[in-house]
Amino acid sequence: SWTTENIIEDSIARVREHVGAEKVLLGLSGGVDSSVVAALLHRAIGDQLTCVFVDNGLLRLDEDRFMNALAGEDDPEKKRVIIGNTFIHVFDEEATKLQDVNWLAQGTIYPDVIESAGSKTGKAHVIKSHHNVGGLPDDMNLQLVEPLRELFKDEVRRLGVELGLPSEMIYRHPFPGPGLGVRILGEVKKEYAEILRRADAIFMEELHKADYYDKVSQAFAVFLPVKSVGVTGDARNYNYLIALRAVETIDFMTAHWAHLPYDLLDTLSRRIINEIADVSRVVYDISGKPPATIEWE
Ligand code: XMP
Repeated sequence: SWTTENIIEDSIARVREHVGAEKVLLGLSGGVDSSVVAALLHRAIGDQLTCVFVDNGLLRLDEDRFMNALAGEDDPEKKRVIIGNTFIHVFDEEATKLQDVNWLAQGTIYPDVIESAGSKTGKAHVIKSHHNVGGLPDDMNLQLVEPLRELFKDEVRRLGVELGLPSEMIYRHPFPGPGLGVRILGEVKKEYAEILRRADAIFMEELHKADYYDKVSQAFAVFLPVKSVGVTGDARNYNYLIALRAVETIDFMTAHWAHLPYDLLDTLSRRIINEIADVSRVVYDISGKPPATIEWE
């Protein structure tokens, strides 16, 4: 039957059967899915597993490889493909350095598979092409191991609990593979990423303070590269827009916008505008999924 323990035992057996005595490389972001894959694979194959954390510059700002690859591109799907391919190249280089690695593990979960359906064939029903869900480029020798491919987020979390991961890790909000790359609308620029990162940090800090982090399923800030007029003292300013989004959902396939308290929204708006000179206005996203998606791109 479908118990967490059975899923774990079953996955371990399947992974062992698949990879045998060969080496596996895992892209470990520190998020829920890849952390659970890491714990699972470690149980299954121990030292045959190597984890690589890729700083894509969309988490922190001192890495230019992804930024350069994204320069000039404003189409959301093309941005995803560029980021996904750059990740794959990094993994390929690491696999070459480690020698004899034949497998690449990924924390792909069921909703990633569904929402990316058709992305390789370019059919119109693609919602978003999540990382490499359709397989790896043909010129790569690595094969994929994706033990969470049939599970929903809440099931992955139960696996994490069973595997003994710390609860801050298990209950962290999801963060998309392309990172801030899909939360800066249109072309990604370093300047925008810096503003967004600061706004997002204020959002997270206040959510924790108000004890709302665990009451919502996912919350984040979005950078809108348009300017609106504000007033500081008696001077006019003309600066960027930050949108805040918080949702409640079980499976991330559908979601409701979270009814955050007005006081919290008020604090957020004041802090973001006062502390980040480049922002003159904060808006709150009141769209459900459907018809909107959770991320803005
Ligand atoms: P959407 O925006 O499709 O998001 O409603 C559903 C969930 O998936 C995350 N998401 C992604 N995760 N690569 C990922 O690894 C992606 O390209 C991607 N796009 C969206 C999103 O953060 C939400 O949790």
